[in-house]
Amino acid sequence: MKPFRFRAVVNGRPVELTVAPNRRLLDVLRDDLGLTGTKEGCGEGECGACTVLLDGRPVNSCLVLAPEASGKKIVTIEGLSEDGRLHPIQQAFLEAGAVQCGFCTPGMILAAAALLEENPRPDERAIRTAISGNLCRCTGYVKIVEAVRLAAVKLAGEGGKA
Ligand code: FES
Ligand code: FES
Repeated sequence: MKPFRFRAVVNGRPVELTVAPNRRLLDVLRDDLGLTGTKEGCGEGECGACTVLLDGRPVNSCLVLAPEASGKKIVTIEGLSEDGRLHPIQQAFLEAGAVQCGFCTPGMILAAAALLEENPRPDERAIRTAISGNLCRCTGYVKIVEAVRLAAVKLAGEGGKA
């Protein structure tokens, strides 16, 4: 199999590496780039633990091959905090008690970030739809919905920065 030259902007940083063309984006991120905040749950597109933003859209990185992500902007959970400060969505998850084991949290937060970018004032239904591809075994989702609501309020206070 001919190696593939993967080029992308990951968390604002240009990245270039040679990978097998059938390598999953999830593995490029975790193993090649050391961005282990992105989690692998099912590996089959069912749990959302591996969610990252690809040109602003949430995708399951376990289902995306490196060539499909090449040339795009990728944001992982590591790309949200700035200068060691948590992003308002991360802060909201903590304050709302929406983090228990934390395994689903990076994917949930990125799904929420994509939603709030598109719809800064989502109602409960929109929130539940946005996180419907992200499974949580711990929280029962109520606190996660609350956290996304709180994040919307925080972001509105910051002039809508997502
Ligand atoms: S690990 Fe990708 S959807 Fe579950
Ligand atoms: S907090 Fe444990 S799976 Fe969601």
